[in-house]
Amino acid sequence: MRILGIESSCDETGVALVDASGSATPRLLGHALHSQIEMHQAYGGVVPELASRDHIRRVLPLTDAVLAQAGLPLSAVDAIAYTRGPGLAGALLVGSGVACALGFALGKPVIGVHHLEGHLLSPFLSADPPEFPFVALLVSGGHSQLMRVDGVGRYELLGETIDDAAGEAFDKSAKLLGLPYPGGPALSRLAQQGDALAYKFPRPLLHSGDLDFSFAGLKTAVLTQVKKLAHAHPDGPATLHLADPLSAQQKADVAASVQAAIVEVLVKKSFMAIRQTGLRRLVVAGGVGANALLREQLGAACAQAGVRVHYPELHLCTDNGAMIALAGGMRAQAGLASGGAADAGGYPFDVKPRWPLSDLGLPANPAG
Ligand code: KG4
Ligand code: ZN
Repeated sequence: MRILGIESSCDETGVALVDASGSATPRLLGHALHSQIEMHQAYGGVVPELASRDHIRRVLPLTDAVLAQAGLPLSAVDAIAYTRGPGLAGALLVGSGVACALGFALGKPVIGVHHLEGHLLSPFLSADPPEFPFVALLVSGGHSQLMRVDGVGRYELLGETIDDAAGEAFDKSAKLLGLPYPGGPALSRLAQQGDALAYKFPRPLLHSGDLDFSFAGLKTAVLTQVKKLAHAHPDGPATLHLADPLSAQQKADVAASVQAAIVEVLVKKSFMAIRQTGLRRLVVAGGVGANALLREQLGAACAQAGVRVHYPELHLCTDNGAMIALAGGMRAQAGLASGGAADAGGYPFDVKPRWPLSDLGLPANPAG
């Protein structure tokens, strides 16, 4: 079964073709992505209306590029999966509209996919795919969640952020340091030159005993520290950007210290989830999963504890069409490809900008 996947929930237009046939390992036949980062950079964040318009411009040329890569005609597509939610309503509508139009024209089913389920299942396209069950650490720009995953559609939320997501903590701290959007990759690059012990930032909820996260206080602590350093400078803070008076080393030290705080919390809470569930596999997905320090520390901790850790391929950590095609294919194979547009007896444009993963509806562990 060849599934065309379309991702357009935020600032990346992703299209991919995945072959998910029978019990064979799923294969990526073609993959193309256009990132809008440059377009939004001038505004310091995503401008929804600009995002939607750009998705419209990109999605069909990307689809052509993917089919050319795969060496297949459009008629070889068996189903079309699109990101149904959560995300920006206008941006989601572009993917949904194109998917429905293609589905209608080809007479093929259309599958609405939950964006987080895409991230969650993305390691199944890697060279070292996981096996169910596993604990998933899902860390993106909008979500920080720990989940127990027993199979396709069987997800139990173990803990989540009560305020900012991990990616948001990276992005907001980076912004305070005057780094360009999206802050995560820029902050982690800068952190390589810094001393992670220079500043003692809080490790929120580390000892709360539950599996929830909280990162909003970290942003305030970074703001306080940057202000303090700026005021201590002879030129004072009267510059264009609050962080301007800081030396390159001070900025790198703040970056390294805040990265260390976020990563420590993510690693410790993941291990609490491993202990609590008794599972021996961990899957890390979402944009923050690309972070080198997180991978290094989780790798070391997992090796020591005898826990297997799985990641998506690095280029599939952030948003992309391949994870949507794969999730659509895995849902179809599991007989769960309902809830999409074709369900309603046609191809209505149907998106869910707010859509808790728990609404996907199956118990995590039916055996008990
Ligand atoms: O999964 P994703 O592409 O989009 C969402 O669904 O949100 O995640 C984007 C987030 C952004 O907050 C970005 O700063 C963060 O992932 N990110 C990183 C790194 N690469 C992306 N954070 C830390 N280190 C990275 N290397
Ligand atoms: Zn995402």
